[in-house]
Amino acid sequence: MLFGKKIVITGVASGIGKRTAQLAAQLGADVIGIDVRKPDVTVGHFIEGDIGSAAGVEAIAAALPRGVDALCNVAGISGKAGIVPTLAINFYGLRELSYAVAGKIREGGSIVNVASIAGYGWRANLDRAKKLVAVKGFPDVDAVLRAEGLHNEFGYPLSKELLLLWNMQAAHEPVFKDRGIRVNAVSPGPVETPILTQFREVLGNPRVDSDIDRVGRAGTAEDIAPPVLFLCSDAARWINGANIPCDGGLEASINAEVLGF
Ligand SMILES: NC(=O)c1ccc[n+]([C@@H]2O[C@H](COP(=O)([O-])OP(=O)(O)OC[C@H]3O[C@@H](n4cnc5c(N)ncnc54)[C@H](O)[C@@H]3O)[C@@H](O)[C@H]2O)c1
Repeated sequence: MLFGKKIVITGVASGIGKRTAQLAAQLGADVIGIDVRKPDVTVGHFIEGDIGSAAGVEAIAAALPRGVDALCNVAGISGKAGIVPTLAINFYGLRELSYAVAGKIREGGSIVNVASIAGYGWRANLDRAKKLVAVKGFPDVDAVLRAEGLHNEFGYPLSKELLLLWNMQAAHEPVFKDRGIRVNAVSPGPVETPILTQFREVLGNPRVDSDIDRVGRAGTAEDIAPPVLFLCSDAARWINGANIPCDGGLEASINAEVLGF
């Protein structure tokens, strides 16, 4: 399915990114992994880089070759470090990397954004999301958040709300669309990786466990990697601007509760 494809994956040192890199290689892809820290075991080629700053994104993009088939934006942080780095890494840096790499992605290629069920509130918070997504480039995130009075919020859900909104917009942006580059998202529910421990610290066990109880178990990185790679493949050639929940049915359960069916 991915034989000979050049797939760039961020966040390869841990969790979902690590598993996605392993599976992509098993399926015959040439993997280029990116992470701010070195992985224990390198799959394919590795670039050490930080997507949380404009300079970091620029350096990563410069180090990447041409002819990329897919960019998987997996790297992310929990929100424990504060809202500024969370928005910088989970949204503005991810978006900046996508634009910076666009010219190196071949026609008909693919971008896959790992969002989250945590971004569920994007519709309810639409005005806020529209404003923050409309901020161009890699902004001074602290200044943007202060101007909106958001600097004391828990940033993780907000970062994923912005990502889900941009995911749909990006599917129709000429920089991608004119060259047939599809942009899609996968939204995991709770997944047993190091970030989940941090969610437990910040949100508390009852909150995390109630989400897990709704669907019977937490996910694993093995559950998330296949849909990410499916969206990279030509089998997904007519899927664009979509968000695939990969959560054991959690979003369906929340929809039923919120919409009353
Ligand atoms: N695990 C979950 O419960 C869960 C649920 C929904 C969504 N997600 C999303 O899945 C993605 C992967 O998370 P995970 O569960 O594998 O967590 P993880 O903590 O295991 O892995 C995240 C990886 O991203 C890397 N990273 C962090 N900041 C970076 C930066 N500035 N530049 C480059 N790399 C950076 C880390 O070094 C790490 O290797 C994240 O976007 C996360 O928000 C996770």
